[in-house]
Amino acid sequence: MPVLHPAVADLEPIETASRDELQALQLQRLQATLARVYAQVPHYRRAFDAAGVHPSDCRSLADLARFPFTTKADLRAHYPFGMFAVPREQVVRVHASSGTTGKPTVVGYTQGDIDRWAELVARSIRAAGGRRGDIVHIAYGYGLFTGGLGAHYGAEKMGCTVVPVSGGQTEKQVQLIEDFRPDLIMVTPSYMQVIVEEFRRQGKDPCATSLAVGIFGAEPWTEAMRRDIEASAGLKAVDIYGLSEVMGPGVASECVETQDGPVVWEDHFYPEIINPETGEVLPYDENKGGEEGELVFTTLTKEALPLIRYRTRDLTRLLPPTARCMRRMGKIVGRSDDMLIIRGVNLFPTQVEELVLKQGQLSGQYQLVVTREKLLDELRVRCELQPEHLHADRDAVARELQQQIKALIGVSAAVEVGLPDSIERTLVGKARRVVDQRPRPAA
Ligand code: DLL
Repeated sequence: MPVLHPAVADLEPIETASRDELQALQLQRLQATLARVYAQVPHYRRAFDAAGVHPSDCRSLADLARFPFTTKADLRAHYPFGMFAVPREQVVRVHASSGTTGKPTVVGYTQGDIDRWAELVARSIRAAGGRRGDIVHIAYGYGLFTGGLGAHYGAEKMGCTVVPVSGGQTEKQVQLIEDFRPDLIMVTPSYMQVIVEEFRRQGKDPCATSLAVGIFGAEPWTEAMRRDIEASAGLKAVDIYGLSEVMGPGVASECVETQDGPVVWEDHFYPEIINPETGEVLPYDENKGGEEGELVFTTLTKEALPLIRYRTRDLTRLLPPTARCMRRMGKIVGRSDDMLIIRGVNLFPTQVEELVLKQGQLSGQYQLVVTREKLLDELRVRCELQPEHLHADRDAVARELQQQIKALIGVSAAVEVGLPDSIERTLVGKARRVVDQRPRPAA
């Protein structure tokens, strides 16, 4: 498949509309969303009242800055279904992402939400150079994670032949890529590298496959990794961004002709960049783009779980439009909270802390060390015995904690149980719970 970008005639009219047209649509959708959440979701009515704002105060897009933020903590406080803006019976699907502790963050979709999500993923696949009739190999995980099913419905909507492989079983991934000859692959960039290695291990050339494009996301990746994957797999690599709370994959996605950062599908999601400390909206210059800060989204068309000014905690900047009329985002350069993404699985240190504290023989001190020695992220959990359990079987305690981390959080970790007091204490300020030694993407 030669990688051709779509002709303008193949795009939806809004993708090439004027900024004025786009902003008029955004304002109209924003006002409707604010009115709806105020009427339907008790949390928003309380939060707006407490901030002294009413939906009718939003007369311009800039007025959105007067409205309060929504956070993961708000979703947790209304777990599982309390933030839904429609009766639960109208919710046709739920997904979930990791919470800061044992309870996940729950997201709901009406049939209309599922249809729009599929359309946006189809739009993303088209932006990547995909066409009706292409074969799409999906190796994002299927299940509560939004990656697999989100990609799946979008590829079907696009009129592609979908191969729903999900993650894992790397030998089988190689076999199916060879036998079914897919045009596109949708997978995390780190797992793509593992698939490439598996080709080599089997003595096969990963560059000689049918794959022309990879749509990679769900975790931060660098330009160096893009070059590495493009060279080693012989394909064009584009970046897809999203988060469960806001929808899933396809909130923003990169155009193959420019490969200059994901285009935010601004007709459905209104982005702001704020100073994570003060909450103030950071300036944006139409020619140069904006300053780096925390990305905040307001959904403009979601029915089941509309979100007003949702703090993603992702740090990035907005960039001026290029291939479409919508603004782009830079690489995610970090987070304003301590969430880690280990081999595509989101993890908060507090989730590990909960398990460490439940284990009676361990002191509450722990440290997470994340490295990338070869291709994949490695997580090491360091903890220590309490003085009164000095003679406990450290290997047995480590094994138990390792199993719980795998079973309850879903990541494989190496657990080290040290002697009492073996974890260094910080005497002033915060304990250093996370030591992340992986390469950091540049903006
Ligand atoms: O990762 C949705 C997704 C699936 C996106 C497949 C793309 C492809 P969550 O599990 O809720 O949802 O994790 C969302 O992952 O806030 C970012 O920190 C990170 N993330 C997602 N895409 C990218 C990307 C899915 N392209 C969190 N680059 C987000 C960097 C990304 N980070």
